[in-house]
Amino acid sequence: MAEKSFKYIILGGGVSAGYAAKEFANQGVKPGELAVISKEAVAPYERPALSKGYLFPEGAARLPGFHCCVGSGGEKLLPESYKQKGIELILSTEIVKADLAAKSLVSAAGDVFKYQTLIIATGSTVLRLTDFGVKGADSKNILYLREIDDADKLVEAIKAKKDGKAVVVGGGYIGLELSAALRINNFDVTMVFPEPWCMPRLFTADIAAFYETYYTNKGVKIIKGTVAAGFTAHSNGEVKEVQLKDGRSLEADIVIVGVGAKPLTSLFKGQVEEDKGGIKTDAFFKTSVPDVYAVGDVATFPLKMYGDVRRVEHVDHSRKSAEQAVKAIKAAEGSGSVEEYDYLPFFYSRSFDLSWQFYGDNVGDSVLFGDSNPSNPKPRFGAYWVQGGKVVGAFMEGGSGDENKDLAKVAKARPAAASLDELIKQGISFAAKI
Ligand code: FDA
Ligand code: NAD
Repeated sequence: MAEKSFKYIILGGGVSAGYAAKEFANQGVKPGELAVISKEAVAPYERPALSKGYLFPEGAARLPGFHCCVGSGGEKLLPESYKQKGIELILSTEIVKADLAAKSLVSAAGDVFKYQTLIIATGSTVLRLTDFGVKGADSKNILYLREIDDADKLVEAIKAKKDGKAVVVGGGYIGLELSAALRINNFDVTMVFPEPWCMPRLFTADIAAFYETYYTNKGVKIIKGTVAAGFTAHSNGEVKEVQLKDGRSLEADIVIVGVGAKPLTSLFKGQVEEDKGGIKTDAFFKTSVPDVYAVGDVATFPLKMYGDVRRVEHVDHSRKSAEQAVKAIKAAEGSGSVEEYDYLPFFYSRSFDLSWQFYGDNVGDSVLFGDSNPSNPKPRFGAYWVQGGKVVGAFMEGGSGDENKDLAKVAKARPAAASLDELIKQGISFAAKI
């Protein structure tokens, strides 16, 4: 079994890993100092593409087109770019054991990797219906989406079951983006989720009503208030029917499940402090263990502007936290200083011809502004969240680049709002005045 030593190891090969590698390269690393270890077979890429462009029936996005860091307009690190920058990219290598005290990692093949500084960037994995003991949930063509291998299986299934029936289980990000992708591929799509409206962790009932009607107009059927309680399969093992808890059953050639994700922290259990389901860090993404940092989906970090600690499962934070950690590592070596992470939460999604952005916090009262008629060819509407008389969150569907910048400004500034009615009347111009 081989043993290799590096000054820095980034464990994980996703979005944070790509942005951390880019930042190391910007700050300067000597050949052989840095390794990126990933269980995926490809160099870090912009994960959001998998539920969007990757699934287009025509002109689909494919690697190397969306390697990090194109998502933020940065340099694209192709597999060969790592070598050129002296970074060792160790792919198809799953780490199965981590000993933080001994500063060593062991791969499934038994190889040992020693480090001086470790960045944990293992991200999240999907929650599986088999984990909840749902009967028949291991049938073929019940699919999940996290990594490029999953996306390839989905593309295969879309081809194999052309114009077939799809059931999408879950009404969150994956549920909404995948229902649209399957509908665009001419599948007969039914979405099923337990809550009274879609995307309840962000959307208000008013916002959700727009998307549900828009999706229904596009031919997506929506079943709320129930869950998938079991599946039956054909004799070849492929899924045939989804049984719902409310007694209904739905035929299905493909089932896509998006019922949430969990951060991959199990390698470090008992070795590092945790909080809110993630690895606890400070404002520089340092964990409780010296020389160990955690970034992206796995990090529970201080959200300075809200005086709170949070874990964020979105791409903007995974990029920025990775850059922050590398800056902090380099600063600690004496090449400058770095400010505390002062993050403004930013989430977005795209599906069909729709595109929304959200900045800030979705707490307090909420008001809708603009034209939220789903039948209009170019819907353009937004929402503000107001807490303690201040605007704390801002959302817009169909906003222009400048309008989206205004959303960010208003959510950061948290100005006082005279009244909810005034916000409705002023709409996006309220944010534009900040
Ligand atoms: P990420 O999951 O990107 O990377 C983790 C990496 O670690 C993977 O390569 C994994 O294989 C590897 N790994 C894990 N354990 C390992 C081990 N033991 N050994 C070796 N390697 C290991 N967000 C957003 O804001 N807008 C969007 O539109 C989308 N769209 C979107 C689509 C899809 C399909 C998904 C799944 C997710 C999104 N997201 C998103 C969320 C966003 O992609 C996510 O928050 C970031 O990818 C998180 O980055 P990380 O680097 O933390 O994890
Ligand atoms: P999610 O948390 O957004 O949504 C999970 C949904 O699952 C819930 O809203 C609920 O409707 C549903 N649910 C829970 N239990 C269920 C059950 N038993 N049956 C049916 N439905 C059930 O999680 P997700 O959509 O699976 O996304 C996974 C991860 O990927 C998250 O980290 C998410 O942030 C990320 N992601 C983000 C984006 C984006 O930001 N645009 C896009 C895709 C994925």
